[in-house]
Amino acid sequence: MATSEKSACIIGTGSCLPQKVLTNADLETMVDTSDAWITTRTGIKERRIASPEETTSLMATAAAHKALQDAGLHPEKIQLIIVATFTGDLPMPATACLVQKNIGAPRAAAFDLSAACTGFLYGLSVAKHFIAAGTYDYILVVAAEKLSCVTDWTDRNTCVLFGDGAGAAVVSSEPRGPRIVGEYLASDGSIYDLLYLPGGGCLHPPSHDTVDQKLHFVKMSGREVFKYAVNSMVEAASKLIEQHRLSPDDVRLLVPHQANKRIISEVGRRLGIPEERIYINVEKYGNMSAATTAVGMDEAFRCNEFQPGDKILLVAFGGGFTWGSVLLEW
Ligand code: ACO
Repeated sequence: MATSEKSACIIGTGSCLPQKVLTNADLETMVDTSDAWITTRTGIKERRIASPEETTSLMATAAAHKALQDAGLHPEKIQLIIVATFTGDLPMPATACLVQKNIGAPRAAAFDLSAACTGFLYGLSVAKHFIAAGTYDYILVVAAEKLSCVTDWTDRNTCVLFGDGAGAAVVSSEPRGPRIVGEYLASDGSIYDLLYLPGGGCLHPPSHDTVDQKLHFVKMSGREVFKYAVNSMVEAASKLIEQHRLSPDDVRLLVPHQANKRIISEVGRRLGIPEERIYINVEKYGNMSAATTAVGMDEAFRCNEFQPGDKILLVAFGGGFTWGSVLLEW
């Protein structure tokens, strides 16, 4: 970091989880599956499902309110709002603009960021660089998804995995809370069709045909995604550990993307980080795409006592493919 650059710190965090709980027992009545299969293959026991009125922007707004309250910051101070999502309320305008209206942030620029499950980490990275450049002092980064709207509830291969929710962080030049020390971001579009949502864009504009073919639901090649998920998260975490001359023992807590407990365990094993230093909540919420690392970080901050110098490593992968990591230091 050049000496003239400002540091970016996370001065407040918040989450919003819909009230409705969908359990594995509920899914047993919807598709040919079992609690035993879902638990052993994924570690997921239940997930939250938003009501029809509970849109992505409303969940994002609720998480943002909590993060602002946690930061002790008036919304009018926010200068930029980034919402990481691929399930926004409308294709246009950006969900970030709806959040800007809802929270009352008249000075803020606003845009959505599309990096699937890695979106929150991409967002933190963008915020860090705007702060470092001196452009802004208060940025709201939100990750929010209503995956229940793009899930085929008749497909047991995917419907057991996903849930809805939102998490938010206020990133600021104020020196309090954990500092964003570094980030590593990557992508590989050559394997985009292992995990994608084919319909609704200009390639397959919405039509009766696209609906009949169920093109507006997430498609996934589970086994291949599993392999890329493990390899890419290990790579992203290792890059930052090496770049900052750390050992895995220096990582006080790893907060990984929560797609599958087996993926998380394998990433921890290959990194040499034991499970007691990995934050895991996939059993409660399933995979909320970009929101998982935001909610995971918020919960981890609330249920741990951190000391100055403690390092937290966020790591994620997702559709694109995209993957990355962000290193925080208290
Ligand atoms: N209940 C019961 N059986 C099932 C279910 C289910 N819900 N789903 C699949 N099966 C069956 C399959 O049909 C298959 O049966 P077959 O052998 O008769 O063909 C069998 O279980 C094994 O299927 P696999 O796909 O090999 O199971 P696997 O152990 O790989 O687990 C899973 C599947 C959980 C999807 C795993 O591959 C995985 O987690 N992959 C990564 C998923 C992921 O991380 N996605 C990221 C999404 S990010 C985003 O979407 C935004």
